Amino acid sequence: MLDALATLETEALAGLAAANDAEALEAWRLAYLGNSGKLKAMLAGFKDVPKELKPAVGAKLNAVRGSVEAAYAAKKDHVGAAPVSSERIDVTEPGLIESRTIGRRHVITRVRDELVDVFARMGFEVAEGPELEDDAHNFIKLNIPPEHPARDPIDNFYVDDPATTRVPRMMRSQTSTVQIRMLEQAVASGGGKLQTPIRIVAPGRVYRPDTVDATHSFMFHQIEGLCVDRNVSMVDLKSTLLNFARAYFGPEAQVRLRPSFFPFTEPSAEFDMRIRLRPDQPVRWMELGGCGMVDPAVFEACGVDPEEWTGFAFGFGIERLAMGKYGIPDIRLLFENDLRFLSQL
Ligand code: DAH
Repeated sequence: MLDALATLETEALAGLAAANDAEALEAWRLAYLGNSGKLKAMLAGFKDVPKELKPAVGAKLNAVRGSVEAAYAAKKDHVGAAPVSSERIDVTEPGLIESRTIGRRHVITRVRDELVDVFARMGFEVAEGPELEDDAHNFIKLNIPPEHPARDPIDNFYVDDPATTRVPRMMRSQTSTVQIRMLEQAVASGGGKLQTPIRIVAPGRVYRPDTVDATHSFMFHQIEGLCVDRNVSMVDLKSTLLNFARAYFGPEAQVRLRPSFFPFTEPSAEFDMRIRLRPDQPVRWMELGGCGMVDPAVFEACGVDPEEWTGFAFGFGIERLAMGKYGIPDIRLLFENDLRFLSQL
C-alpha cells in the first residue's frame, strides 16, 4: 500500500504537469481527486490495512493527498477555472420571462418640457428662481402693495411672520417672482442698467394653502413668460400666445384676450385658447391664464428704465392643461404617485 501510494503520487503529479488546458485539468481532477478517482479508491482500501500498519499508511495517505491537492490548487490558478462538471449551456433556450417595468417621466414633467420646447423654438430661454422666496419678490416688486388681499397670511405659506419680519420668507405663490429675479439679474450684470432684451420662460412649482379637492392642490405648477425689449407691444404678446397655441395644439388654435387686472401688468388680460385638447374632443375655448404689458412700477422696482424698455408677461397653470390633455379628472391623482394610474399616461 505504501508503494502503491508512492506510485500514485508520482503518477498524479506527472499527469498534472501534463494537463495544460482546462479540459485536461478537469479530466485529471476526475481521475485522481474525483469521487470515483484513484485517491478515493485508496482511501476506501484503508479499512483493510492491518491494524499495525495503519499509522504509517494513514500518515502516507494524508501526505499524498495533501501534496496532490496542493499541486492541483496551484495549477488550477494558472489554467483557469475548470468547467463545472459536463454541463452545457443551450443558448437556443428561451429566456425566463421577467416582468421588468420601464419607468417614464411624470406627466407634469412631460407637459412642462413640451411647453418649454415650444417656447424655446420661439426664442425663449428657460429661467429658474427659488421656491423659497421672500415677499419682496413675490409681492412688493410685483407692485402688490402691503394692504393687498393676495398677501393675507391665510392665503400664503409664510415661513417668517409677515407682521414682525421686514422681508418675510415664503413659499412662492406664483412664478411671476422669476420675472423680478431675471430683471434684477440683467440689471446687475449690465452694471446697474438693463443693456439687452430679455426673453425667458420659467416653469416651476408654486404653493398656496388651498383646501385640497379635485381641482385644487397646495402645490401646483405654473409657467411664466417674460419678454422685454424696445417697442414691445400688446400685438407681440397676442401673436406670441397665438404662435404658441398653433405650435402646441395645432393650426386651428385661436387665442382670445379678455380685459382683467393684475398689479404687475397694465393693461392686463386673461387669455383663452380655442383648442382641441384630445383627438376625441371637439374644439372648445379654455381659460388658460393671465397676461399683460409689464407695469412701469415693476420695471422701476428692478432698476429698469420704463421710458426705454417695454415688455409683456404671461403665466398659466400646467396641471389644468395636462389634466385636459390626458383626461385626468382629479388633480390629486397627479401627486399620489400610484403606479396603476401613472402607468396609463
Ligand atoms: N401670476 C398670476 C397668477 O398666479 C398669473 C399671471 C398673470 C402671470 C398675468 C403673468 C401675468 O405674468 O402677466 O395668477
